[in-house]
Amino acid sequence: MTAVEQNLPAKDSAPKTIYLKDYRVPDYLIKTTDLRFDIYDRNEKDEKSEGRDGETIVSAMLQFYRNPAATDAVTQLTLHGADLELVSIALNGKVLGEGDYQFGEESITIFNTPEEFTLITITKIKPEQNTSLEGLYRSRTMYCTQCEAEGFRKITYYLDRPDVMSEFTTTVVADKKYPVLLSNGNLIDQGELDGNRHYATWHDPFKKPAYLFALVAGDLAHIEDKFTTRSGRDVALKIFVEPKDLDKCDHAMESLKNSMRWDEEVYGREYDLNIFMIVAVDDFNMGAMENKGLNIFNTSCVLAKPETTTDAGFQRVEGVVAHEYFHNWSGNRVTCRDWFQLSLKEGFTVYRDSEFSADMGSRTVKRVEDVTLLRTAQFAEDAGPMAHPIRPESYIEISNFYTMTIYEKGAEIIRMLATLLGKENFRKGTDLYFDRHDGQAVTTEDFVKALEDASGRDLTQFKRWYSQAGTPRLHITDSYDEDAQEYSLTIKQTCPPTPECENKLPFHIPVAVGLIGSAGDLPLVLQNAEPDFETSDNTYKVLELTETEQTFVFGRVQEKPVPSLLRGFSAPVKWDYDYTRDDLILLMSRDSDGFNRWEASQQLGLQAIEQAMEAYQQGNSLSNWQVDAELVEAYRSVLQNESLDKAMVAYMLSLPSEAYLSELADIVDVEAIHYGRVAVRRALANALRNEFETLYRAYNHQQAYAATADGIAARSLKNVALGYLTLLNDETLIKRCEQQYRTANNMTDVMAALTQLVNSDAPLAQQYAASALEDFYQRWQGESLVVNQWLSVQAMCVLPRTLEKVKALQSHAAFDGKNPNKIRALIAAFCNNNPINFHADDGAGYQFLADQIIHLNTQNPQIASRLLTPLTKWKKYGPQRQALMKKQLERILAEPDLSKDVFEVVSKSLV
Ligand code: TRP
Ligand code: ZN
Repeated sequence: MTAVEQNLPAKDSAPKTIYLKDYRVPDYLIKTTDLRFDIYDRNEKDEKSEGRDGETIVSAMLQFYRNPAATDAVTQLTLHGADLELVSIALNGKVLGEGDYQFGEESITIFNTPEEFTLITITKIKPEQNTSLEGLYRSRTMYCTQCEAEGFRKITYYLDRPDVMSEFTTTVVADKKYPVLLSNGNLIDQGELDGNRHYATWHDPFKKPAYLFALVAGDLAHIEDKFTTRSGRDVALKIFVEPKDLDKCDHAMESLKNSMRWDEEVYGREYDLNIFMIVAVDDFNMGAMENKGLNIFNTSCVLAKPETTTDAGFQRVEGVVAHEYFHNWSGNRVTCRDWFQLSLKEGFTVYRDSEFSADMGSRTVKRVEDVTLLRTAQFAEDAGPMAHPIRPESYIEISNFYTMTIYEKGAEIIRMLATLLGKENFRKGTDLYFDRHDGQAVTTEDFVKALEDASGRDLTQFKRWYSQAGTPRLHITDSYDEDAQEYSLTIKQTCPPTPECENKLPFHIPVAVGLIGSAGDLPLVLQNAEPDFETSDNTYKVLELTETEQTFVFGRVQEKPVPSLLRGFSAPVKWDYDYTRDDLILLMSRDSDGFNRWEASQQLGLQAIEQAMEAYQQGNSLSNWQVDAELVEAYRSVLQNESLDKAMVAYMLSLPSEAYLSELADIVDVEAIHYGRVAVRRALANALRNEFETLYRAYNHQQAYAATADGIAARSLKNVALGYLTLLNDETLIKRCEQQYRTANNMTDVMAALTQLVNSDAPLAQQYAASALEDFYQRWQGESLVVNQWLSVQAMCVLPRTLEKVKALQSHAAFDGKNPNKIRALIAAFCNNNPINFHADDGAGYQFLADQIIHLNTQNPQIASRLLTPLTKWKKYGPQRQALMKKQLERILAEPDLSKDVFEVVSKSLV
């Protein structure tokens, strides 16, 4: 039945905005939710049943009751529902007919509803035709669901909002060729049915919002393990995958057990059901989903083995498994009242998973990685047209708000709270939060209140971080009075205007500092301050900046120090202090804060690249660009420093990325950044060739692969050296790179070598690259996730004519235009991670991207909308590029039938 046949009103052309200030409690709540799914795949025929090919019949029995907290005296009920075909609807056993209900846009309103009633609906959906990957859909050989944020309404009519929490019982019925039938909670019944069919019934004893519902049906294999909780309960752990992937589950299982133990130890949180399941699916819009007891994962975030998965892949699996597991408390047991509160669960859970990863590996490395992501992607978002506070005031499509800001900046806000409260009080606060709000749907205010109550601290001003967007800037100056032995730091804060707010009130910012003297950290004696009982370390202090401008004075400072500022990146801000080259070199070698040693290396690298960029902009050739001797010495000392963590050395030797350099610029000079950065890299490679060769040989041992911090560190250091050396266009070095490609025993080393070959313009390297790419595909064509890496390395090639290759790859057997992982691997990789080609000055990259978005808009609006990001940054480019980018945005906006997702991003970008 079409919309017209069902008498639906025509779709409004301008989608409407939802405001936080309009929040109202629901008029009705749902005590129990009983669901039955009769799944018929595309080829089945069963004359006896109501089912038809490719249809799933959803029967829902819902026990409604008036919400005691609702004040309006209503006698009708509006349920969400989208793309559903209603077969029948009955209230308290009476079949409803015309006049008893009315369809709205993505809703149904039932009239004359009593205080309490049972509603039974039967609806039909078509999972095979669902390309949006929200609701119930088919991915390769299995059926699965994705309900967050508002996908449950594509399954059945419901109050699809997170403050409606219900007890679910779910029966899944399907042909026996789908032997595995799963849903949330515990299995309570299963059996055989006529016509080669069978069923399984699951009951979830924990009340939950519909966005946490999940169902899976498929021919799946699984690995099984168990975890004994600290109170002695056994939990069965199962990871379900397509049989071919059964050998790639061990790392996820280890990560899961580590996460369960860590949450008990660090947060006192135990798992609450007798079974915990993970299912891997290949078609998935995001990384993974925390459905109660039945997490559904993108294959890319669960499968891993050394031959097919890089170190980064292993770490991603560990992090995402932990993230979803931690949601069981931060998200599921305590959930969000409404979607404006999304960062309540996401920011907190990202903070939790990043602390977990820090404890599992190297803390400083993890911090550097998180900050790098924040500073490139999140800072850019916060400075662009889609900027929003971590608790937004309004949205058109909530799917557009699963952002770097909600997740990554949200996590930084929680980290600042932990810093301000100190470890002990923070833990008291989270205990109180979980305790007080268990089983509730709450707000970010509730979270902060629990921390306030537990710690006795007033966080009123701190809460501005929740309502004000934009990246604050700190301008820091100092003075030293030798006679008085006093050192003072003056910090000024400002915040640029963002779409929701012009003038910002000052933030409450923890500024962690140390002072470095010629021999290292100096003891800190802060004037006019209580002694700090928080840390036993007297060389580290957290200053609390609350005013627009504030001065902090330290006494008994015996020499003029170099300040180590925002240690560990103690706040998500940009800051400047006028460091000399010598200051930075001192910090890089002497600062006890590992993060700031890295930060100093980046500042040095930045200065060097800026010089090369200037030369480029003045029309000078960069072909024999040199960096000065002092800088070379600084890098040499890092290279040779035996006491540094190897993974940190690798990061310190890597120059700031093009993405970071672009974020720093007011107007991005794509070419100057690209060629300037390469020139500095080549100059360093020339000057430090011997050292890099020594390093490469030292770490190029053929030890068995292990995804341990040590193993990862050794590989990343070796591959950084390889990267520098390959730039030298020297035959022996290029041959060594090719040899690494051929002989490596793990995917990290294979990809590192392949990447260098593909990006080198030396004819020999190009020759090797061509045969390596061919060889790689032949070898790995059966492994979808490996093929994705093959697509990406080609999409990110910096050499000319890459766009043509990307277009050609779209019709290669390796590509599938419906699979988000393939789209990300090829199209998003080109548009986001290949600036020199994407921003080609004829605008071909922009036009290509707009074509993809227009195509994807109807197929998968979430993916289409996410793909838009690089075009939304048009104001950061020069006038020609601006015009070309804007033209494509306008072309998209003029398309008929734009999804809410794409409409919101395009229209806000054009303002
Ligand atoms: N809650 C998920 C997470 O962060 C996010 C998520 C998974 C999601 N799939 C989605 C959000 C689809 C929107 C749409 O762990
Ligand atoms: Zn999450």
